[in-house]
Amino acid sequence: MWWGVADAPSAAPPRVLPDGVEAVVFEAAQIAAVVRRLAAEIAAETLGEPLLLVGVLKGALFLTADLARALSPQLDVRIDYVAASSYRQSHHPSGDVRLVKDTSQSVEGQHVVIVEDILDHGRTLERLERLLGARRPASLRSCVLLDKPYRRDTPVRPNYVGLTAPDGFIVGYGLDYQEKYRHLPYLAKLHAWRLDG
Ligand code: IMP
Ligand code: MG
Repeated sequence: MWWGVADAPSAAPPRVLPDGVEAVVFEAAQIAAVVRRLAAEIAAETLGEPLLLVGVLKGALFLTADLARALSPQLDVRIDYVAASSYRQSHHPSGDVRLVKDTSQSVEGQHVVIVEDILDHGRTLERLERLLGARRPASLRSCVLLDKPYRRDTPVRPNYVGLTAPDGFIVGYGLDYQEKYRHLPYLAKLHAWRLDG
């Protein structure tokens, strides 16, 4: 069969990005590969101990779910979530972070891994590490999908890091801007004009 140039089967349609999105920075397949790598790193240091993943809502919703399923079915894994108020919403001049939803199970004696979407200034993770660390877990580690190390103003050091995020505001795969864009299967950068103030 003869195909003309216009209807050749290899001609993929141009991708249409949602309003306000400038560019895709990490594709779904790249994210999946990074999540598998993070799961392998966590498992390698878990030595068969039971694990409690504590995802930070809502940004780490998908990351926590995907990470849990990338861990071996042989591992003893439980999932919990906390929610912390974002400095972007609360505008705390002190940078204080509030816990608005606590875990539903005790972390005492557990091997805990905090699962966070993105590390920016580092205040959210610092606060959570202090809070959960005070509850006498057997061990406490942290895993972030994205890191903006050039933005850090706290000494927090995550144990597992997925990707270094480019400068700018990132959305998708759980990350939002004003509660939008979380459902995008990829990670994308917002146009500067989309951001208020
Ligand atoms: P930190 O406390 O300054 O590290 O801020 C971390 C929190 O701010 C993350 O958990 C996100 O909820 C939010 N955040 C920081 N940077 C971005 C971004 O580029 N896109 C979406 N959310 C962000
Ligand atoms: Mg977050």
